[in-house]
Amino acid sequence: MKKKIVVLTGSGISAESGLKTFRDSGGLWEEYRIEEVATYDAWNYNPALVLEFYNKRRAQLAGVVPNAAHHALVKLEQGFDVQIITQNVDDLHERAGSKAILHLHGELTKVRSTKFAELVTDIGYREIHLGDLCSEGFQLRPHIVWFGEAVPLIETAAELVNEADILLVVGTSMAVYPAAGLVHYVKPGCPIYLVDPNPAQLSGIPSLTVIRDKAGSGVPLLVDQLLHE
Ligand code: APR
Repeated sequence: MKKKIVVLTGSGISAESGLKTFRDSGGLWEEYRIEEVATYDAWNYNPALVLEFYNKRRAQLAGVVPNAAHHALVKLEQGFDVQIITQNVDDLHERAGSKAILHLHGELTKVRSTKFAELVTDIGYREIHLGDLCSEGFQLRPHIVWFGEAVPLIETAAELVNEADILLVVGTSMAVYPAAGLVHYVKPGCPIYLVDPNPAQLSGIPSLTVIRDKAGSGVPLLVDQLLHE
């Protein structure tokens, strides 16, 4: 029976693929105001601007590829039962080949009906516009969890973290809840490794090992260490 490793990832794991993080200098939220493009109120106030924001990010995603950190997490599956829990809406974990991926904040390549949330369609890197309707005739929206909306998979994620034998945290400022609270669901004594060049100050976390490094170099090294322990 392979040990379970849960990997909580944030935008930092995709930084070396060329996708902006959110809160680093030059991050996405410096170009846009969150409240104008990533909240439910923004959608009601100016849906065209919101659609444009996600159309741009979807187009950019088509032009980037997974980096060494994403590939190392696939290699980790050689010795462990690996579950990715990502805050990222990009498809880089999928494209690298990870098998078990839970997207807490939705997926950029998917859209859904504004009326029937279960009507989800994969559009890849294409655009959607006002007037693009679901099969039942209602406007399509990005399949993204906006600020102010519930995070439907958070309970599932907490259960997965609680089952982990090891928790890796890669490239997240741990600034956004409920995702940031997941680290507190580990079993007592579960080792936690944090890979980040500018790591968040996680207080009150026992058995934490901080690897002050970029994901592209720090994650492959950590994976090799774990596979050969
Ligand atoms: N390798 C690893 N980590 C990196 C790298 C890198 N090359 N470059 C930056 N980082 C780290 C930063 O130091 C920071 O800790 O990635 C983290 C990025 O933090 P944020 O920009 O806050 O992104 P994230 O934590 O994913 O944001 C969480 O907030 O805006 C919402 O829904 C959005 O999912 C997002 C959530």
